Amino acid sequence: MNYIGIDLGTSAVKLLLVDNSGNILNTISKEYPLFFPHPGWSEQRPEDWWAAVQAGVKELLACSDASLVKGIGVGGQMHGLVTLDENDEVIRPAILWNDGRTSEETDWLNNVIGKSWLSKHTANIAFAGFTAPKILWMHHNEPDNFARIRKIMLPKDYINYMLTGVHACDMSDASGMLLLDVENRCWSKEMMDICGVTEEQMPALFESYEVIGNVKPEISKLLGLSEDVSVVAGAGDNAAAAVGTGIVGEGGCNISLGTSGTLFISSERFGVDPNNALHAFCHADGGWHLMGCMLSAASCNKWLCEDILHTSDYSAEQASITDDKLGKNRVFFLPYLMGERSPINDTDARGTFIGLTMDSTRADMVQAVLEGVAFALRDSLEVAKDIGLKIDRSRLCGGGAKSPLWRKMLSNILDLPLDIPQTEEGPGYGAAMLAMVGTGAFESVAACAAALTSVKETVEPDPELSALYEERYSQFRQIYPALKGLFPKIK
Ligand code: XUL
Repeated sequence: MNYIGIDLGTSAVKLLLVDNSGNILNTISKEYPLFFPHPGWSEQRPEDWWAAVQAGVKELLACSDASLVKGIGVGGQMHGLVTLDENDEVIRPAILWNDGRTSEETDWLNNVIGKSWLSKHTANIAFAGFTAPKILWMHHNEPDNFARIRKIMLPKDYINYMLTGVHACDMSDASGMLLLDVENRCWSKEMMDICGVTEEQMPALFESYEVIGNVKPEISKLLGLSEDVSVVAGAGDNAAAAVGTGIVGEGGCNISLGTSGTLFISSERFGVDPNNALHAFCHADGGWHLMGCMLSAASCNKWLCEDILHTSDYSAEQASITDDKLGKNRVFFLPYLMGERSPINDTDARGTFIGLTMDSTRADMVQAVLEGVAFALRDSLEVAKDIGLKIDRSRLCGGGAKSPLWRKMLSNILDLPLDIPQTEEGPGYGAAMLAMVGTGAFESVAACAAALTSVKETVEPDPELSALYEERYSQFRQIYPALKGLFPKIK
């Protein structure tokens, strides 16, 4: 039997065809546009996602026996607000996870409703990218659109809805809406009231590995699938990535260096960061996790290379950053191109180069960007250590992890051994694994992870280089506080 794992990302959808031994038989990637209608806003058209998924599934299956496909799992970018009207039409473009327009609503939630109230009811405080502030924004700024909402969903749930006709959401993705009682894994009636939505408008909740329904007959026909293909609830991309790298159960850590950068700590028990700097969300294995999320990670390197330097040859840009240059760069970069979530929670923060001199080179600036992202991830690691979490190694996945140079910088800046999984397709692979569990190939997510995930190689930190980077990190940490007051003035 075969399974389709889909990762509905921000720059593209990636589709994997996997057999029940975990072998990847085929992969397809399809891009779609991303719109920035105002500085700090970020939108995509759900119709583009669906068109890309349909084309992708057809291509994925072109050279194999499609009747062998038994299940589909979708992992996707979290927090995005998708709204449908009574005719199932998309009301407006989706407002994405890295959109910063809701600072007023976020401040109102945190200051008027109150952080401790929010944390008690949802295990989290409000961040601009979360879904609840976006619902409030739509209510305040687009009342006609708001009045038309019949269904609210997250990005991957739109794909599941188009596939099955079932309005569902899994616990891991639902956690990032600020509408879920994360501890008890149910919608928070109080939060729905605050946002002016009813339970009928909200999707039905499932565990990530539970089957929500079968692909609709007309869609099966269109995509060339047989009629009894099951679709599981799937997961937010970070939970799906953790499953795909084998980080399930107690105490494991996964770092994803994708468009966003995340530090994901898995747990069998519910727990909240007392300062709410890390998100406390459900995991796709039935447990929970804590997570720090930076909004622009590999996207900073993409921005510098593609938009500024007009090249897509990332490795050529990195070729002159030799070992002797590491830990010695006097150019720093704050990676806040979309504001920042964890841990500083500041929608006004902006990207910044600092420390330039007449002899600074293009390579110094590329290096500063790679290092700045790693330093900002270290900020989340420090928060995790401060609340007593023991992290002595981590798995690493995401597009940025393909760069040996970036892996080395990250391992030394975090001073952690980084395990590179055999299969680097984190979220898509995890989503396929959830489909296997849901259709009975494995009895649990943990059993599936034990059978199908392993480590290919480990990047070990070098004590001398880590010491050099420690000094640089202490300098990096002083830059944002020095500029914080300026950012709101240069909006
Ligand atoms: C997590 C988050 C991002 C998106 C990116 O809280 O906002 O990692 O899920 O796809």
